[in-house]
Amino acid sequence: MPLEQLPSSSSSKTDMELMRAIHSVNPYEGFDTTGFRYDAQGWNSERQVFKDLIDQVCPQLIIEIGSWKGASAIFMGEYLRQKKSSCLILCVDTWLGGLDSWQDPKNSIRYTALKLKQGYPALYYQFLFNVIDRRLTDRIIPFPQTSIIASRWLKQNRVEADLIYIDGSHDEEDVYLDLVHYLELVKKGGVLFGDDYGDAATGVKAAVDRFAGERSLAVEMKEDQFWVISKE
Ligand SMILES: C[S@@+](CC[C@H](N)C(=O)[O-])C[C@H]1O[C@@H](n2cnc3c(N)ncnc32)[C@H](O)[C@@H]1O
Repeated sequence: MPLEQLPSSSSSKTDMELMRAIHSVNPYEGFDTTGFRYDAQGWNSERQVFKDLIDQVCPQLIIEIGSWKGASAIFMGEYLRQKKSSCLILCVDTWLGGLDSWQDPKNSIRYTALKLKQGYPALYYQFLFNVIDRRLTDRIIPFPQTSIIASRWLKQNRVEADLIYIDGSHDEEDVYLDLVHYLELVKKGGVLFGDDYGDAATGVKAAVDRFAGERSLAVEMKEDQFWVISKE
C-alpha cells in the first residue's frame, strides 16, 4: 500500500520526509494483522501532563524514547488529532525491553509481553498493530534503535524536537546519557520530560537530579511521577 493511502490522521510533506529518511519502505505497509488484538498496556501513559505539555509547547515534533506497546505515543497522538495539530511523534525504542523485562521470566507483564519468538522479542509488532488500529500511522514513526544511536542519527540529520519524552531504560547511567544526548535535541523554548521520578526503585531521580545539578537546571515535578526540564 503506498504511503499516501495509509489510514490518515494528518500529514504534511515534512512528515513524509522524516518517515522516508528513516524507512525506505513504510513499516506499516503490508502488516498482517491476523491474530492481533488491541493491547496498549503501559505505565502512567494516559496522564494529564502529556496534554498540558502539548498545550504549553504546541509542538511540531515530539520524540519519545521508550514506547513499549505504544500507549503514551497513542495517547499523545489522539490528543494531537483532537487538536487538529499536524505534530508528528517519533518513537525511538529497540523493542527489546529494558533490564527490568529480562529479570524475571515469570513476570506476566514485563517478560511475557516481550512475546519471544525463537528467543527474540516480537513486541515491536504489537506496537505496529496498536498504531494501525488507532489510525495513527502517518503521525507515529517508529525508529527501532537504541536511544544513543538514534540521537546520533538525529544530530546528523539536524532533527530537533519541541517536546522529548524520556521513558527508555530506567537505569541511572542510561537515563543520565539519554538526558545528555536529548537535551541537545530539544529546540529553544521546548521541554524535556520523563516518568518515574517518584519511583525510588529506578535510577531516574538520581540521574535527573545529577544532570540538572551539574548544569544548574530547574526540575519541576508533575503529578508525583513526572520530571520536567524546560530549555530556555
Ligand atoms: C517503560 S517502557 C516505555 C513505556 C511507554 N512509554 C508507555 O507509556 O507505555 C520502556 C521501553 O524502553 C525501551 N528501551 C530500554 N532501553 C532502551 C534503549 N537503550 N534504547 C531504546 N529503547 C530502550 C524498552 O524496549 C521499552 O519498550
